[in-house]
Amino acid sequence: MSATTTASQTPINAVPDFLPLHGTDYVEFYVGNAKQAAHFYKAAFGFQSLAYAGPETGMKDKVSYVIRQNKLTFVLTTPLRPGNEIADHILKHGDGVKYLALKVDDARDAWKQTTARGGKSYQEPTVLNDDQGEVIVSGIHTYGETVHLFIERKNYNGVFMPGFREWKTNYNPPPAGLEYVDHCVGNVGWNQMNPWVKFYEEVMGFKNILSFDDNDISTEYSALMSKVMSNGNGYVKFPINEPAEGKKKSQVEEYLDFYNGEGVQHVAIATNNIVETVTDLQSRGVDFLKVPASYYADVLDRVGKIEEDLAPLQELGILIDRDEEGYLLQIFSKPLQDRPTLFFEIIQRKGAKSFGKGNFKALFEALEREQDARGNL
Ligand code: FE2
Repeated sequence: MSATTTASQTPINAVPDFLPLHGTDYVEFYVGNAKQAAHFYKAAFGFQSLAYAGPETGMKDKVSYVIRQNKLTFVLTTPLRPGNEIADHILKHGDGVKYLALKVDDARDAWKQTTARGGKSYQEPTVLNDDQGEVIVSGIHTYGETVHLFIERKNYNGVFMPGFREWKTNYNPPPAGLEYVDHCVGNVGWNQMNPWVKFYEEVMGFKNILSFDDNDISTEYSALMSKVMSNGNGYVKFPINEPAEGKKKSQVEEYLDFYNGEGVQHVAIATNNIVETVTDLQSRGVDFLKVPASYYADVLDRVGKIEEDLAPLQELGILIDRDEEGYLLQIFSKPLQDRPTLFFEIIQRKGAKSFGKGNFKALFEALEREQDARGNL
C-alpha cells in the first residue's frame, strides 16, 4: 500500500497564480471527415452551427467547423490533402482531441510563464487580425501529441476567430442542456503519470487535488491509477490516468494501443439536469455504458438521500456518488468513434467536487464487458 492509498484532498492555497485561466475556450478535434463529424455532434448532442473556415475563407489546406452549446465550443478540423501534420495525426490516432484551448487574459504572458518553467513551445504568441479585432494565440505541448493553446480574445468581437466566417444552416437541432467542460482526462503510458503531474505542477502551476491508486480503481481483471490536477480557481481540471498491473489488459492500455499513444480519454460535460439531458441524448442515439441493476439495489445505502427519484436514474443508467461536500450524478458514453478511444462523460454536480470514486468499480466492470466483447481484455 502506497502513501496515496486513500483518495486525499489537498486544499488549494492562495499563492499568486502565474497562469490565470478562465476555463476552457474550446476543444478541437482532428477528424477524418469534419463535415460529417459536425453533423453528428449537432444531431447527437444538440450543438449549434457557429463558424466555418476553409478554402472559401482563405484556409487552403484544411477545413474547420465550429459548433457551440452554451459555454461549450468544439472545433472539428480535417485536412484536404495527405502528407501534413493533421493527416498524419488522423492516420496514427484516428479521430481525437488535438487542442485543449484555455481562455486567458494575456496569451503572451501565458506562453512566457509556461515556457520559462520548462514547457515545450508549440506556438509562439501569434496575433490574428480581421475587421472584428484581434485574437492572440500561443501554445505548449502536453502528453502525446496533445496541445494546450492559450487564447486571448478580449479585443475580438467576431463570431469565433479571424479566418472564420459565420456558419448558418437550415438544420438547427434543439440543445440538450450541455453547459461547459467540467474536466478533461488524459491517458498516459506506464510510469508516466507522475512526470505529467510534475509538468502540470511546475509548468502550469496546477495542484494535485485528488489521487487514486490501483487499490481504489481495480476490478478482478484490471487496474489504473489516477491523479487529478486543478488550476488555482478550479475552472480547469485535468485528471491523468496511467495503467496499472492487473490479470488482464486495462482500459487505459486498450486506449494507448488503439490511439497509438497518449491522449485525451474523455471530456466531461456539465449539465444542470442530467435526467433530462441523458433522456434526450439517448433518444438521439447516443449510447451509454450500462451498469448492472444490482448497482441500484444498495446505492442509496452508500450515498444517502438524494433529491432525484431513483427509478429514472436506474432506467437511464446514471451513476451516483457522494463526497464530503455533496453528491454528483454521472454517466459515460461509449466511444464516439470506431476505435475504443475518446468518449464523453455527462456530469451533474450537486455540491460534490470529486470524480465518482465510489462508481469506479461498477463502471470499470461495465467497461471490461465492452472491452471483452471487442476481444481486447
Ligand atoms: Fe471523468
